[in-house]
Amino acid sequence: MEVAETIESVRSLVRAARDEGKKIGLVPTMGALHIGHISLIEAAAKNCDFVAVSIFVNPTQFSPGEDLEKYPRPLEADLEMCQRAGVDVVFAPASDVIYPGENLTWVTVEKLTEPLCGRSRPGHFRGVTTICAKLFNIVAPDVAYFGQKDAQQAIVIKRMVADLNMPLEIVVCPTVREASGLAVSSRNQYLSEQQKEDAAKICQSLQDCRRMIETGTTEARQILARMREILQQIRSIEVEYISIVDAETLESVERITGKVLVAVAVKLGPARLIDNILVDAGR
Ligand code: PAF
Repeated sequence: MEVAETIESVRSLVRAARDEGKKIGLVPTMGALHIGHISLIEAAAKNCDFVAVSIFVNPTQFSPGEDLEKYPRPLEADLEMCQRAGVDVVFAPASDVIYPGENLTWVTVEKLTEPLCGRSRPGHFRGVTTICAKLFNIVAPDVAYFGQKDAQQAIVIKRMVADLNMPLEIVVCPTVREASGLAVSSRNQYLSEQQKEDAAKICQSLQDCRRMIETGTTEARQILARMREILQQIRSIEVEYISIVDAETLESVERITGKVLVAVAVKLGPARLIDNILVDAGR
């Protein structure tokens, strides 16, 4: 496995693989790798001949006051995990490699970035789309892999790729969960054991929601009330949003008839946690 710290070095490694006719897969990450990331790497390895992983804690997607400084950066452990997972190249640039000076060019996806996390994290998605556009330009993958846990991110990136005719495919892989149901996340490291147990209720509330929709409840208001009831059982939880939105447009849904995304964001102790499910009411 190669570790590239410069744009030139990652480009030349990818170019060599492409010249051999290999299909290139990219898994963009901010490091602090866990089994969720490994599942993306495995999907890439299955479908591609050359797997690149980027590890870059992207400052432009953190709002002021968020956890940029304390975001975990266990690079050695990350590299070991990548090596074991059969990654071909890890691109781990320093901040000034990606942002050498004042950045004047940004990629902004409209509308889809306004609801849900866009409301409480101004500028977040602009940072995400800009770094992903940069990574796609640097690595030039055939396919890039993202997790369903960041559902809005995946939808926004897919839209950017479609709208800007970027020549790659975006694959979204299922959320990986702990045995308790808690969605695996780098930010779970901030939680105590008790808080992790409490956080499992987020998944429980989503499962209840799925049951209600599948057994015929169509009023979003009724379902949201039930979910709020479950979440309120968690000590010191602050619910940022619980929303039922159209799975494509992310517009709020009152009567559930088609495919919806049910998304939750909470503040639990030191961590901001998000989770979601896709449900097709099929009516
Ligand atoms: O999902 C993440 O870890 C980040 O938002 C991403 C896609 C790597 C961009 O920094």
